[in-house]
Amino acid sequence: MSNAKPLIKGRILTGHRPTGPRHIGHLVGTIENWAQMQDSNECYFLIADLHVLTTDYEHSDHIQNNILEVLADWLAAGIDPERSTLVLQSAIPAHSQLTVLFSMLVTVPRMSRVPTYKEQVKELHLQPSLGLLTYPTLQAADILIYKANAVPVGEDQLPHIELTREIAHRFNQVYGDTFPEPEALLSPTPRLPGTDNRTMHTSYNNAIFLRETPEETTQKIMNMYTDPTRIHPTDPGHVENNPVFAYLDAFDPDLKGVEELKERYRLGKVGDVTVKRHLAEVLNDYLAPLRQRRREIIAHPKELRNLLTVGTEHARPLAEANLHEIQGKMGLNPNHS
Ligand code: TRP
Repeated sequence: MSNAKPLIKGRILTGHRPTGPRHIGHLVGTIENWAQMQDSNECYFLIADLHVLTTDYEHSDHIQNNILEVLADWLAAGIDPERSTLVLQSAIPAHSQLTVLFSMLVTVPRMSRVPTYKEQVKELHLQPSLGLLTYPTLQAADILIYKANAVPVGEDQLPHIELTREIAHRFNQVYGDTFPEPEALLSPTPRLPGTDNRTMHTSYNNAIFLRETPEETTQKIMNMYTDPTRIHPTDPGHVENNPVFAYLDAFDPDLKGVEELKERYRLGKVGDVTVKRHLAEVLNDYLAPLRQRRREIIAHPKELRNLLTVGTEHARPLAEANLHEIQGKMGLNPNHS
């Protein structure tokens, strides 16, 4: 039956911070997984612009353009605004209002133990802001304001979903059953290394971006880190912990071919350059249709903005209704405005 509505399993909320164009780690770690869920779930995809300010408040002039870059990547990779709701976080004050309410239910020591916070503090070399400390509380509000059941994220976000579940649990315990305890969902490839084998990161100079040209991608691949113990193409090679093969596993549709290539690499029967040339072709082929769509989408920034506005207005009544319910349960009078 072609136009039978698929069964809706649950409500999903997830999102990204608009920090710049998306890379292939975002693609396989999150966006492709999200796109697949649109058939059988009610999906909300959040542009978390407030979260950008937790670290970058001094460089906030990029945010508006980055929102468009992220949206273009999402849509090109299959996020469908006809079926799903795009939400701009800062445009719905209920997200921030719920953050204040949730901040009453968590302790400061609990927040300072969040691993992403501890890492950021180590890296930043400055005094962490109060906003950074409460970052995961805002994220919990993003999720629970829609009473989402599931949150598909990258591996790095798991501590935040754990905190979200704790907040939901605590709230339900004190004020009565209100929130589902949302489940974290990982993609089949939750982690893709960068071209230097560190974590792929927009600011590490080790990312392959969806929007770049095939030539740029090829050049990055030809300079990739491989097996450091291998000097000559005839040396036996290591496939494990080798990002070139991690990429082939993620992008080469010819699974049998990849296994054969790995075997020849292990035996010292194929050189790095040959493997990299093959990878460049595979990855550029994989990204070609997405890149084509992206060029068409980014050419119409007004339409992109409009899609975000329409989605946000669609989400707003649900967020506001839930906020009112929560305020009431917490002993406030939501009608007194
Ligand atoms: N912290 C997420 C990231 O950096 C972005 C985010 C904000 C998010 N709110 C969210 C993800 C709610 C999932 C659900 O990628």
